[in-house]
Order: sequence, then structure tokens, then C-alpha cells
Amino acid sequence: MSIEALFKPRSVAVVGASGKPGKIGYAIMKNLIEYGYEGKIYAVNVRGGEIEVSGRKFEVYKTILDVPDEVDMAVIVVPAKFVPQVVEECGKKGVKVLPIISSGFGELGEEGKKVEEQLVETAHKYGMRILGPNIFGVVYTPAKLNATFGPTDVLPGKLALVSQSGALGIALMGWTILEKVGLSALVSIGNKSDLDDADMLDYFENDENTGAILIYMEGVKGGRKFMETAKRVSMKKPIIIIKAGRSERGAKAAASHTGSLAGADSIYTAAFKQSGILRALTIGEAFDWARTLSNLPEPEGENVVILTNGGGIGVMATDAAEEEGLKLYDNLEDLKVFANHMPPFGSYKNPVDLTGMADAKAYEGAVRDALANPNMHAIAVLYCQTAVLDPRDLAKIVIEEYEASGKKKPLVVAIVGGIEAKEAIDMLNEKGIPAYPEPERAIKSLSALYKWHNWKMKHKKE
Ligand code: ACO
Repeated sequence: MSIEALFKPRSVAVVGASGKPGKIGYAIMKNLIEYGYEGKIYAVNVRGGEIEVSGRKFEVYKTILDVPDEVDMAVIVVPAKFVPQVVEECGKKGVKVLPIISSGFGELGEEGKKVEEQLVETAHKYGMRILGPNIFGVVYTPAKLNATFGPTDVLPGKLALVSQSGALGIALMGWTILEKVGLSALVSIGNKSDLDDADMLDYFENDENTGAILIYMEGVKGGRKFMETAKRVSMKKPIIIIKAGRSERGAKAAASHTGSLAGADSIYTAAFKQSGILRALTIGEAFDWARTLSNLPEPEGENVVILTNGGGIGVMATDAAEEEGLKLYDNLEDLKVFANHMPPFGSYKNPVDLTGMADAKAYEGAVRDALANPNMHAIAVLYCQTAVLDPRDLAKIVIEEYEASGKKKPLVVAIVGGIEAKEAIDMLNEKGIPAYPEPERAIKSLSALYKWHNWKMKHKKE
């Protein structure tokens, strides 16, 4: 059963749609409209009548069976006790996929799990798939679909984000907007009664709009199937996982949060490694890596070049590169080209120190030369904010040079400084060029790309 309708539905019905601000059935309608979904939207509510959301009037159908058209996706936002009947009606209507927002199922215990199983049985009888229950919805930016009750303005990009936790997922949604992380999709999978992490990997593996996948999970359902799928997908796209419940007490908390059996943590670590999955321990680390992994091409070799205007950040980046096992390029014949872009007291040895005098012209020339040399396989551009060069001008230079080069090799940026530095970082991230406020974060993200690439190369040979 394809899940295409979960991301590219031709029409969406909201069952439990409401005209009352503050209700979840209202927020979902509002997001669908305001994020610009271009398919048909239908409101379903036992009350019938008419509602107005975001200036648009909707006739309200009393059941989904009354909708005078085909419905691909039905978002269910009615109290748990009404859900079984609604699922049955959706089946009769020929709906393809059901994100069930409602809570009050498997997370409550055995009784709730049984109800969930029955919902799935009914859904499958009609060839439908269920997302959830106990979720905040789904976003797919290429289709301008925001069927969630989270923030509206999700930034389009190439990262698919899957979250088992609802509240954290919604929070991360807001955070990605603030931090300029572009998303292709955002899926809340909640209780995973039917669709699970492996199904999401299956879909994103061949989704041309997705470059990398980030999953927040507390427990794996169907561990073997998940690991096998992840291993196959990792050969094509990088997967980053935050697997919470590492400690004994954390695992207990996970069990009561989403009913997940967390299992021995060391087993996860080993299994993830085998499947090419990059395990992040914190949200910050996961998104740092995700920026680089979702946007950049794979390196064609191991030679990394660091360009900097500050000796200090150059040294810190070098330490991080050494610790991560990255190879800094040492061929002085090739590196000598950078002498053209620095005063005599600069150093063209890697890390290349353009010095505090480095202006727009110096960075432009150095970045261009590094991008053009086929022996330099990955570049880290570092910048300490000085009075010589506004960081926003540096961002413009990097964007122009990188785009002109055809983005054929990985390039990461770190800019240390104040408000202008933050603006420059945002400018770069909005263009899909990973930029960070600290050199180590840029280097570690580049290292995550190498780790995945090296795993892939090793397994290609096997
Ligand atoms: N068919 C169609 N509409 C129906 C039906 C039905 N069979 N039964 C009820 N409705 C309508 C009601 O008329 C009501 O409409 P109104 O808003 O115009 O009054 C609407 O459905 C909603 O029903 P209410 O009884 O008002 O329920 P309420 O909106 O308070 O809550 C909800 C419904 C949101 C599904 C709630 O039961 C629930 O499960 N909340 C939790 C959601 C959640 O947190 N999910 C996890 C997200 S992730 C996280 O943790 C943040």
C-alpha cells in the first residue's frame, strides 16, 4: 500500500474541523489554508452548517460520506471514542491515508493498544494506512501541505524530520524556522500503530525532495525490519537518529511516554553503526549534522582545506579535525596559491591563515581557488568578525562563489561574532550552505558527512 497520499494528497478532509480559534480542528484547517495547500480542503463535523477559517468559508459535511468528491487524506481530530466509527466511514469513502491526531489509545496501556489494533485492522480492510494516533500531523513542503497544529511557516528544504514525540516535534518545528533549517517533510508518528519509522525511510529513500532523514525515537518497532531498511536507505541517503531513553531511568520514562520498550542502549548503538546510521546525542548535534548532510554533495576524496582570518579559530578547527580523524591537505605546491590572497605575514599552510587583514577580495580569491582545485575535496571557511569585512558581505561572497562552482564539493562555514555574524549565518543557511557560530561545529558536521560517506564506500565494496 503506497503512502504517496500522505505527502502528496490531491484532497484533504479534516474530520472534527472547527471554526473556533483555539481548537485543534481549527488550527489544522488554518495551517492547511495559510501554508498554501493547493488541493481541495473539506471540513467534516457532526454539527454541519458552515465555518469560516482564515477568511475562507467552508460548507461543513456531517460525515465524510457526504463529501461530494474523492478524499485522499482524512485528518482525524475527534475524541478517541468516536475514532473507530470515523475510520470505518473513511474506509467506505475510499480515503487512502488517515493521520489520527487524537490521543487516548496505546499510550494508555493494553486496552488502548487493542483499540489501536482494531483501527488498523479496519483501515487495512479498506486499503488505508494510519499515521499515529497521538500525533500533531504531517508537513510536506514541496506540496505546500501543512496538516499540523504546529507553527505555520515551515522553511522548505531538504531534510525529512520524523518525530515520535509530539510536543518535542512541535517545538522542533518552531526551532527549525528560527534556525533556518529547511525541511522537505515533518512527520509526527506517535504511537506507530501502523506506519512506522521503516515506512518513512522507505518513502524518503526515493523522494527526490529529501536529502537526509532525521528521526527522534524512543523505541524501535520491528527492530530487524527497521535496521534492514535503514541499512539499505543509508546507501543512498544519510540517516541521523536521536534515540532517547539511554539511561535506565530515561528508558522507563520513554515507556510511559509513548509505550516504547527502549531496550539495552548498547545494542542500539551497535545496530545503528552497522546500518550506517549516525547517532546524535543532542538536538543541537543532530541538526548541525543534518544541515550538512541534507544539503551538501559527498566528498570525492579526503583532503580538507581550512580557510580562516583568525589564527585562533583556525587552531580550534584544526584540533577538531584531528580529533575527528579528518585529513587536512598538506601539499604546499597546491596550497601556495593562497599566498596570492594574503599579506606576507599570512600562512598558506593548512589551516590557511588569510590574517586579520582579510577583506572581501582575499576571501573571494581564496574560496574560488579552493573550489577550483580538484585536489582540495572539502572546504571549511572560517571567519572572525573584524572591522575589515562585514560578515554579511562574506556570506554573499561564499554564496556567489559556491553557486558559481556548481556546488560540487562540500563546503561548510563558521562565523564567530555578533548580530551581523548571526545574520550572515542565517543568510548562508537559507541558501542551503551549512553555517555555524563555532568552528568545531562546522568541522564536526563535515566529519559526520565523511563518516556516512566512508561507511557507504566500505559497504559498497562488500
Ligand atoms: N465526526 C465529525 N466531527 C465530530 C465527531 C464525529 N464523529 N464527533 C465529534 N466531532 C466534532 C465535534 O463537534 C467538535 O466540533 P467543534 O470544535 O465545532 O465543537 C470537534 O469534533 C472536536 O470535538 P470535541 O469534543 O470538541 O473535542 P476537542 O476539540 O476538545 O478535542 C481532540 C478533540 C483534539 C482530538 C482531543 O480529543 C485529543 O485527542 N487531544 C489530544 C491531541 C494531541 O495532543 N495529540 C498528540 C499531539 S502531539 C503532542 O503531544 C503535542
